[in-house]
Amino acid sequence: MVSDYYSPLVIEHFNNPRNAGAMEDADTEAYVTNPVCGDSLRLFLRIEDGRIAKASFLSSGCPASIATSSAATELLAGKELDDAVALPREAYADAVGGLPKSKIHCSVLAATAVRQAVESWRAEHAAEGVQA
Ligand code: FES
Repeated sequence: MVSDYYSPLVIEHFNNPRNAGAMEDADTEAYVTNPVCGDSLRLFLRIEDGRIAKASFLSSGCPASIATSSAATELLAGKELDDAVALPREAYADAVGGLPKSKIHCSVLAATAVRQAVESWRAEHAAEGVQA
């Protein structure tokens, strides 16, 4: 859904971000920035049995990027790695009730961070023959 305003869910996630903060025992993480606005997201994942057991984030970004990052941590919990990587940025925007047209790009940070974090975890564990 596209509107000119932030949805109530964007505002709710922005005011009460879920799983905000660094994760000391993360198995992998990714740091991504938006080259246009300079906003950034650091995403942490704990991975167990081929699934994302927990996600947390640190953000230096706009309300839309904070809200979609917060929603991402809830959306990702319990997901198999392949399913997490396959989530399009629209899934993160939908999870906060849609974003204003001018803020659609903000949901790209979460989608990119998930892919990079999983890719990095897979690269690190490939040598060990771990399948996930
Ligand atoms: S304006 Fe930069 S991510 Fe939203």
